[in-house]
Amino acid sequence: GTAQLEAEFQNRVAADQRIEPRDWMPEAYRTTLVRQIAQHAHSEIIGMQPEGDWLGRAPSLRRKAILLAKVQDEAGHGLYLYAATETLGVDRADLTERLIEGRQKYSSIFNYPTLSFADVGVIGWLVDGAAICNQVPLCRSSYGPYARAMVRICKEESFHQRQGYELLLTMMSGTDDQRQMVQDATNRWWWPSLMMFGPPDGESPNTRQSMAWRIKRHTNDELRQRFVDITVPQAHRLGVELPDSALSWNPERGHYDFSEPDWDEFTQVIKGYGPCNAERISRRAAAHRRGAWVREAAAAHAAKSRRREED
Ligand code: ACO
Repeated sequence: GTAQLEAEFQNRVAADQRIEPRDWMPEAYRTTLVRQIAQHAHSEIIGMQPEGDWLGRAPSLRRKAILLAKVQDEAGHGLYLYAATETLGVDRADLTERLIEGRQKYSSIFNYPTLSFADVGVIGWLVDGAAICNQVPLCRSSYGPYARAMVRICKEESFHQRQGYELLLTMMSGTDDQRQMVQDATNRWWWPSLMMFGPPDGESPNTRQSMAWRIKRHTNDELRQRFVDITVPQAHRLGVELPDSALSWNPERGHYDFSEPDWDEFTQVIKGYGPCNAERISRRAAAHRRGAWVREAAAAHAAKSRRREED
């Protein structure tokens, strides 16, 4: 019966064996995975916009080529992740509809504007840095297709993080104006980057069950702390200040202490009222409409090739 299947499932998860698409799984496990992986896919696709805004204004051909490659990698990440959700019996066209209609979320971080080219560097350093902290443990997630997609995505994310840091090192050895741009971008992105890890553990409704299923391996607060501990020495080396006067090394805990982000702002952003939410979704919807003929042509071509094979 179901109780026995459920017990076998839980034993496999506890033994760190991977769950594969054709294996039995509890319906709630499937629903949780679709929710998390689809959100993750949407984030990659929406995440192309803030940096894509600088493609036409990159300061050199070299920076433009790097940025173009990075934005294309993000499209690829979105596609692997949509493919992973499809192994759970959903359809990516339907997921895209749900995103456009506001029935599914994407990461809060992509609802902030990119005001200068330093933002491109800071997104690589802080946003991709936070994504790596969050995503490296997901390479050991219990669901096989998700875990395998994350391995490749994390390799590319590390390259993205380094290109951001290298861009910032270059700007920091430039003029006072350039250093000021880096500091300003750091001030604006620091708190939203901390919010990427989700609400504090006490207010995270999904963490406990997702950890029991080994979809998540650490709590939101554990990962946020890890990110702060990794990032503070990088800020020192770069010569920028992180905008938190309470940030200091705590020898007893063996971690940096830091202030709480503004959780009201976070709530507003995930409800759709952040600075760029409306723009992000309307552009996504417009791109989807403009791409309709490509999808129709690809489907017509596939149908024709199938008919030819059958003849
Ligand atoms: N932005 C938007 N929504 C968020 C965020 C965030 N930063 N953090 C949490 N939420 C949402 C959750 O999705 C959940 O809402 P839902 O139930 O409607 O889905 C709600 O807030 C409560 O949060 P939790 O209970 O903590 O949810 P969960 O256990 O899913 O943890 C987390 C959230 C950490 C984001 C997790 O889903 C995760 O690790 N996802 C994969 C990573 C990812 O999506 N990265 C995308 C951004 S990084 C990048 O692509 C560069």
